[in-house]
Amino acid sequence: MSTVRITNVTKAFGDNVVLKAFSDEFEDGKFYTLLGPSGCGKTTMLRIIAGFETPTSGEVYIGDKLVSGGKTFLPPEKRDIGMVFQSYAVWPHMNVFDNVAYPLKIKRAASADVKTRTDRVLSIVHLAQYAARFPNQLSGGQQQRVALARALVAQPKLLLLDEPLSNLDAKLRESMRFEIKDIQTQLGITVVYVTHDQTEAMAMSDRILVINRGVVQQTGTPEYIYNNPANPFVADFVGKVEFLRGAASGGVVTLDNTDQKLRCGDSRKGKVIVAIRPETVKFTAPDKGDLRGTLTNRFFLGDICDCRVKLSDKVLLRVIADPVLAEHIAAGDSVGLAVRSLMVFEDDGEDRLEILT
Ligand SMILES: Nc1ncnc2c1ncn2[C@@H]1O[C@H](COP(=O)(O)OP(=O)(O)O)[C@@H](O)[C@H]1O
Ligand SMILES: [Mg+2]
Repeated sequence: MSTVRITNVTKAFGDNVVLKAFSDEFEDGKFYTLLGPSGCGKTTMLRIIAGFETPTSGEVYIGDKLVSGGKTFLPPEKRDIGMVFQSYAVWPHMNVFDNVAYPLKIKRAASADVKTRTDRVLSIVHLAQYAARFPNQLSGGQQQRVALARALVAQPKLLLLDEPLSNLDAKLRESMRFEIKDIQTQLGITVVYVTHDQTEAMAMSDRILVINRGVVQQTGTPEYIYNNPANPFVADFVGKVEFLRGAASGGVVTLDNTDQKLRCGDSRKGKVIVAIRPETVKFTAPDKGDLRGTLTNRFFLGDICDCRVKLSDKVLLRVIADPVLAEHIAAGDSVGLAVRSLMVFEDDGEDRLEILT
């Protein structure tokens, strides 16, 4: 059993409280991602699970076993976990086989066993034909797979990955996402993955925990969080979003600095923030649609057409359109906009650069 249970974990470095009452349960065989901006406490939480850091208060259980909490502390090597860090260290003086076999050798596994298990894990990460090579003869992605193979060779039930792809270039990062997800599914292990990259989190995770300033803002499947963000921070961090300020009354929001209204199906009254995903807005005829405006910019990017529409002199809205549907619209044209989904939040007063008023 490799379910991880975290109950009320806090962590302070001196006066700096970096984790506040963190509780969650990571089920056996699932892929979890801690997602949040730099400095929000992701690595600290992962290091606490691994046993490289002790919580200030709270408990961590792996399976049924208390591993951190009260007077109990089980050191990392006794936790049956594999871990890969951002700055993955493969040993330059060892070939791929020896790098990967190393954890088994320190455990003094029989040499036939070392060979079988190392070969197996090398084939899982598609490195079997590179066993005799040295790290300087490998690409960044291949070196990263060596680090992954080394973390997997002792067959841990729990794999902790801390931004393992951030040193790779964009294309490689994308293909490695699928490889990691594949390996996780194939081996049926529990993964706790740390990243600040929302697309990476969405592509791989069964569940995402969105964290800000040491507090979990929301937990859910990628789709749920994208469609039902708990607050403006989550809406902004997961996916693209445009914020508009307005005043709500009777299920209708009047947008600030415009004379335009949006039906919102929300009973809130008073100042609100409306969040719109730019890809859920569609161009319509000028007199149709929920909003009207003037197209000011249109950037053709191949798969999408990234547009800006002026709702009034002071308010600009981003629209991400299908290039085929936006083909006949040019800067200066009057357009209508159909808004498929919008989210309404209480105005938390926080200053958001992106707020369009
Ligand atoms: N060993 C440490 N001593 C003091 N402060 C630390 C230590 N490790 C992390 N911090 C602080 O804790 C906060 C969270 O860091 P971290 O968990 O690394 O964030 P993330 O991984 O989300 O970028 C940061 O403000 C960081 O400076
Ligand atoms: Mg980190």
